[in-house]
Amino acid sequence: MADVPQDILSEIANLERLFTVDTAKLKEVTEQFIVELKEGLEGKGNIPMNPSWVMNFPDGEETGRFLALDMGGTNLRVCEITLVDEKGEFDIIQSKYRMPEELKKGNAEELWDYIADCIEQFIDSHHEEEKDSLEVLPMGFTFSYPATQTYIDHGVLQRWTKGWAVDGVEGEDVVPQLEAALRERNLPVTVAALVNDTTGTLIASGYTDPAMRIGCIFGTGLNGAYLETCGNIPKLAHMNLPPDMHMCINCEYGAFNSKGNHPVLPKTTYDVMIDEQSPRPGQQAYEKMLAGLYLGEVFRLTVVDLHDNKNILFPNQNIDAFRTPFCLDASFLSFIEEDPFENLSETQDMFLDKMKIHANKPELELCRRLAELIALRAARLSACGIAAICKMKGFDSCHVGADGSVFNKYPHFKQRNAQALREILDWPKGKKDPVVVSSSEDGSGVGAALIAALTVKRIKEGVTYGIRDVSKFGAPEKIAVPEEKGATGSIDTEKAKEGKPQ
Ligand code: GLC
Repeated sequence: MADVPQDILSEIANLERLFTVDTAKLKEVTEQFIVELKEGLEGKGNIPMNPSWVMNFPDGEETGRFLALDMGGTNLRVCEITLVDEKGEFDIIQSKYRMPEELKKGNAEELWDYIADCIEQFIDSHHEEEKDSLEVLPMGFTFSYPATQTYIDHGVLQRWTKGWAVDGVEGEDVVPQLEAALRERNLPVTVAALVNDTTGTLIASGYTDPAMRIGCIFGTGLNGAYLETCGNIPKLAHMNLPPDMHMCINCEYGAFNSKGNHPVLPKTTYDVMIDEQSPRPGQQAYEKMLAGLYLGEVFRLTVVDLHDNKNILFPNQNIDAFRTPFCLDASFLSFIEEDPFENLSETQDMFLDKMKIHANKPELELCRRLAELIALRAARLSACGIAAICKMKGFDSCHVGADGSVFNKYPHFKQRNAQALREILDWPKGKKDPVVVSSSEDGSGVGAALIAALTVKRIKEGVTYGIRDVSKFGAPEKIAVPEEKGATGSIDTEKAKEGKPQ
């Protein structure tokens, strides 16, 4: 950077100070993370730690035909998954539908109508002939937002995240809302399980890998899930579940450090602005600094500040193309980081094409370093959630299944994240990493279908705690419920049908 002028060089140094997270900070964040994970299990604090009523990994013997619905941020995906007789094998057909932006801020009825229409289209195009004779398909519904689940086929939306703000859903159970729209269309589909994408990722990855302990998403949003034992979940104590029974916890750790007396997140003024201008200020503090949805926005706000207030970037040029909130997504940053040319000519062309800006070499250097710093901060800080679960659970070595656009597509993310884990967990140099984060199986498709399959299997076996509607799939004769700590008893099917907590 010999030919970079002094003011740009000192601004780069300033940005480095702002965005760099050193090892000591990573460790401090991780320690506070452990505190908040534990508080969540007690029903307090920032992190919801939602029990998901997924109690174990599939054993590969599950069979049958299932639907999976993934209500993602950009697309809606409907899959039909047939778990075949060969252990661990499956067939999948799937269709994608665009998720219109306006639905994300519309009302509940429009949302569920649109989703039910997509499912109808899917069934029409894949089962036209047998539509009327089709047996009811159990569906795993990947709903990747924080939901309180008293049962697996139930989920009250706690609050929208990732910029969604659909009216009439927060505080409501989303399962009957979707099922009503399915019924109106006479569709042979019923929701067997409401699944978070992290839970789906954990279960799908654990299907093929016995060392799998944590599922996480680094995408539009950020979150993780792991299997806890019920004895370690004080907020479920009143349910008298067997203490050694497993329960998958959807942490919803994007909410880490949102409020409270121990703020540890190294927020910049840009992070504060993102939060203040979001539909839900004061929530999802960790996610808003790191997740894919926000990376482009941090970059945009920094560029606007360096132009408007410091006169460092693009003086005397019109930067209106940078003024629309969220006009840049994470792919803008990854494009800059991936520019193979020393003179950053691809970045220069992109600035001209997309932003109508003539960027000179020093300005390009600054933008490149800024993109790198924002993404590096995200990769490093997001290791804290994983490290905290590992430390809290004593996972000295394990596999972590990860999914999401940032993990799968952002250049160097995996290496940067792994490096941060090494620093936090103090692994000796030169040895193989004991905790490895790698790309997972398709959690919101196969994972959701497997969880639907596990639910139907549990009903057939009479193990029905955490299932609201056992009648949907043929209720068993006897239903096992825990009567007191550590014991298992049975109640009659009628009572279970009434939906008593079990
Ligand atoms: C947000 C959602 C969470 C989801 C994550 C990744 O944090 O609240 O449920 O798992 O995004 O998609």
